[in-house]
Amino acid sequence: MRIDVITAFPPLFTGPLSESIVKRAREGGFADIMIHDLREHAHDRHRTLDDTPYGGGAGMILKPEPLFEAVETLQAERRYDEVILTTPAGTVYDQRICKRLSLHENLIILCGHYKGVDQRVIDALVTMEISIGDYVLTGGELAAAVIIDSVVRLIPGVIGDGESLLSDSFMDGELDCPHYTRPPDFRGMRVPDDLLSGDHKRVEAWRRREAARITRERRPDLLEQSDRPDRRAKPRDGKETD
Ligand code: 6GU
Repeated sequence: MRIDVITAFPPLFTGPLSESIVKRAREGGFADIMIHDLREHAHDRHRTLDDTPYGGGAGMILKPEPLFEAVETLQAERRYDEVILTTPAGTVYDQRICKRLSLHENLIILCGHYKGVDQRVIDALVTMEISIGDYVLTGGELAAAVIIDSVVRLIPGVIGDGESLLSDSFMDGELDCPHYTRPPDFRGMRVPDDLLSGDHKRVEAWRRREAARITRERRPDLLEQSDRPDRRAKPRDGKETD
């Protein structure tokens, strides 16, 4: 998979894309991630990227010319599955969108500015607007890094044993259960007996019970959205409503 990122702040990506699993995915040839400096596509004397909004008001808007040139330069080389804009006005990102993106071959991510980008960029170039949650970031770069991290780890082969992917929180519409490692007793805090039992069935039953309990307590909304009817809250007479 190839991801081209267009940004006015390339250094913001250095850390997140150079460590741990994303680093390994790039080195192993699973993910080709290219960071492009938007300023290379600004051709006036001051290499201007933004300008004041028509109609007045605070904040600056990313100008259309550099973004059009940057995207069209890439599109002249290969076909892209999606051109994503990171913006607080976008669809709220979740594991379903993440899974879908991980199946694509080529993606472009445009990093929005805090105030916005010229609407003509959105109308003519962008195929998907994504927000990573209901709060405001200074720019779309950190959001783009979040999207890249979450997508790259789903590319087959990037994470060694498929097991740890399958048990991820959200993969199955449920949060993950608690985990423990040695020692069995740390300062009087004991690992639950079921986990120490060595009985695989007992361990699995404990994990399923705990995952269900935590999801019910913290994120009942996930159970309502679940594809699995057995996970949704049942009406009192026990009949399914749909
Ligand atoms: Cl994608 N961009 C900005 N600027 N703020 C955000 C966001 C994106 N997602 C949540 N907040």
